[in-house]
Amino acid sequence: MNEPLSFYVHIPYCVKRCGYCDFNTYTPSELREGGDLKSVSNGYIDLLIKEIGMAHAVAQTNSPIPTIFFGGGTPTLMEPTDLGLVLMELSNTYGFANDIEITIEANPDTVTKDKLAKLRDVGMNRISFGMQSAAPNVLKVLDRTHDPENVIKATTWAREVGFDEVSVDLIYGAPTESISDWEATVDAALELPITHISAYALIVESGTKLANQVRRGEVVMPDEDQTADKYLIADSKFNSAGFSWYELSNWAKPGSQAKHNIAYWENANWWGLGPGAHSHIDGVRFWNVKHPSTYAERINNGVAPVQDSETLTLEDKENERIMLEIRLRDGIALTSLTPDQIAKVESYLETGHLDLDFWGVGRMALTQSGRLIADRIVQEIISA
Ligand SMILES: C[S@@+](CC[C@H](N)C(=O)[O-])C[C@H]1O[C@@H](n2cnc3c(N)ncnc32)[C@H](O)[C@@H]1O
Ligand code: SF4
Repeated sequence: MNEPLSFYVHIPYCVKRCGYCDFNTYTPSELREGGDLKSVSNGYIDLLIKEIGMAHAVAQTNSPIPTIFFGGGTPTLMEPTDLGLVLMELSNTYGFANDIEITIEANPDTVTKDKLAKLRDVGMNRISFGMQSAAPNVLKVLDRTHDPENVIKATTWAREVGFDEVSVDLIYGAPTESISDWEATVDAALELPITHISAYALIVESGTKLANQVRRGEVVMPDEDQTADKYLIADSKFNSAGFSWYELSNWAKPGSQAKHNIAYWENANWWGLGPGAHSHIDGVRFWNVKHPSTYAERINNGVAPVQDSETLTLEDKENERIMLEIRLRDGIALTSLTPDQIAKVESYLETGHLDLDFWGVGRMALTQSGRLIADRIVQEIISA
């Protein structure tokens, strides 16, 4: 194939599981009784390197890699030199584009300035910290371990050691979070030396500690109107500080949009390495076995770790394109929609949910109020 292939590298370890998180991640003692991180992650890098070889045997491309994203879990728990070995293998196997973006997700508690410098040395050039909130009551409900001061230290160090692109993740709409808690969080984020912000509404994922607390009535989720107000507050504060939205939950300084995220939203090809990681190549999706031990067993036996796959029908692909593209600032080309689909959503121009200027140049793009009802608009288009 000629299209570029991006890589996602999953690191499935966390020191402690946050109460709201259902990502495919494990604490050392969940993996082995009395185990520590070093022993449970021993050999993991070799498995990733072997999977790169397996990927290359089935997915070759003439283009060099445009983006790599180390996510988790907590990638910063691993030794930078070990992550560097994965990068070296990817570079030797596929080659790197000159302007490659290599992101690592970081928990502000698991970095020192020295570690950040080493991550930069092995080739990472973008870092994304899980800040979540600046309000102690919210961090407590979220079951987060970090002290808000660590975020200031970590982002400052990241800039000092040469990361030009620094992002933070925020979560809004948690139990006990007042409007002023959220305003304080946004203001605190904007004080940081960052170039990018992701802000997600808290999702209560079933099976998590948070879901059990909500079910038992121990904590109460705020109502949806308040959570929508928080989105609007964040959007206007981010805008005033020079961060423009380019995807529903993402804002960036000019030129600092995450290329890896854009590749996902544009439905590009990517390969996910590691347990539970998902891949997408030319309309075929596949995903790896979820548990790290099953993954290790497969790779060590020379067997592909893929658990299952699905081939998207033309209709699936089209619906997915609409769902993803509508989230982006430039929206969807009107020429790619049917007359019925266009007729279905025209009324949203009058209600101010769709942008008249964009429509005038042939694109269906959301206004600020439209972003709050993006899902409803997608449903209307898809059902036309
Ligand atoms: C893998 S984590 C980021 C790195 C690191 N593990 C950390 O948490 O600091 C990815 C991001 O997903 C978001 N996230 C995870 N679970 C979520 C949920 N239930 N609702 C909303 N956002 C969530 C958080 O903002 C988190 O920073
Ligand atoms: S540190 Fe990140 S990946 Fe780990 S449990 Fe918390 S939110 Fe999930």
